[in-house]
Amino acid sequence: MRGVPGPDAFAADSIEIVHLPLWMWQIVVTGAVIVALALLAPRVIRRPTTGSLRWWALGSVVVNAGIAVTGATVRVTSSGLGCSEWPRCTPESFVPVGTEHAALNAAIEFGNRMLTFLVLAVGIIVFLATLRLRPRRRDLLVLATLIPLGVLGQGVVGGITVWSGLHPASVATHFLLSTFVVIGTVAYYVRCREPRGVLRLTVSPPVRRLATALLPVGFALLAAGTVVTGTGPHGGDAEAPRFGLDLVLVTRVHAVLAWLTVLGAVAVAALVRKGAAPRTVRVQAWLLLAALLAQGALGYTQYALGLPEGLVVLHVLGAMVVWIALLRLYFATAERVAPTGVEGERAATAQAAGR
Ligand code: HEM
Repeated sequence: MRGVPGPDAFAADSIEIVHLPLWMWQIVVTGAVIVALALLAPRVIRRPTTGSLRWWALGSVVVNAGIAVTGATVRVTSSGLGCSEWPRCTPESFVPVGTEHAALNAAIEFGNRMLTFLVLAVGIIVFLATLRLRPRRRDLLVLATLIPLGVLGQGVVGGITVWSGLHPASVATHFLLSTFVVIGTVAYYVRCREPRGVLRLTVSPPVRRLATALLPVGFALLAAGTVVTGTGPHGGDAEAPRFGLDLVLVTRVHAVLAWLTVLGAVAVAALVRKGAAPRTVRVQAWLLLAALLAQGALGYTQYALGLPEGLVVLHVLGAMVVWIALLRLYFATAERVAPTGVEGERAATAQAAGR
């Protein structure tokens, strides 16, 4: 048995609200939200427009980034093995009954598993609506297919994470896969607002290159963060394996990458201030800088205070905000415009034919 069970609290059914076990409430609430989504969905699925899809796309960004944050809550509350099996919660049951873990831990892990169904539901609705969008948008359809597949992939990685007893490499992969799904959701959101057409830079080539280079640097920053987590105390369970690295050293590497990203963001903000860049790019550059500075301040604070749980969860939220800001800046440096002339006529004919 792993973890530290609470006294007289070995299963989530020992927490009762109005005579019903907590896990049953979790299922009821998730089911109710999915039914609400299903009631809203026919409108957008029957007559999808890029305008209406944009709101669903925004929802998709929020739920996919949000589940990474709730995942961090599972970790810092040591609830990672609240359900010790996958896809079942215990060898005998799909719901947290007799988990041999504290009731609250089981409820937190089970609640996070329930959230996956919500995230998947949003992905499926966006996919179905995109399938029916006319004229067809192949670019959007590719993204709308990848998003729910990514969420299903997360389910599999989540399972491997549980089976591996919360190995830090698996926990890190689980988080990093979320960042890939978020790329798809942000790209979908941005593309919804643009016509099908040719890509045109909105900034000078050096600024575009800088915004592009910031993506791998930002990703390395996130990956380094997961190594810090895998080395530090918040493994998700008292007995979870650790990387066994020097915590101070890996934190320093992580902080250096953070400073590198800040430098890149400052450079972009300075360059677009001087040059003729659209307002959107300037706004995105400043938003990225603000997100990075707030996140950096939070990082140093949590480190100095010995990693209090609440701040660690906020730091993961900040990480997702920074990642979205990096993506938004990148996408703002180029835009798709409807082709003109012969190309435009060809595109219009293809659109009329529904291709
Ligand atoms: C400014 C941009 C930054 C970003 C985007 C960022 C991102 C991240 C991410 C993604 C994680 C891993 C979360 C997880 O695996 O659940 C993490 C962990 C961590 N970061 Fe940062 N970070 C930044 C700056 C900093 C700075 C400047 C410090 C200061 C030393 C710092 C200290 C930490 C620590 C100590 C952890 C481990 C927390 C834990 O126990 O889980 N971070 N960060």
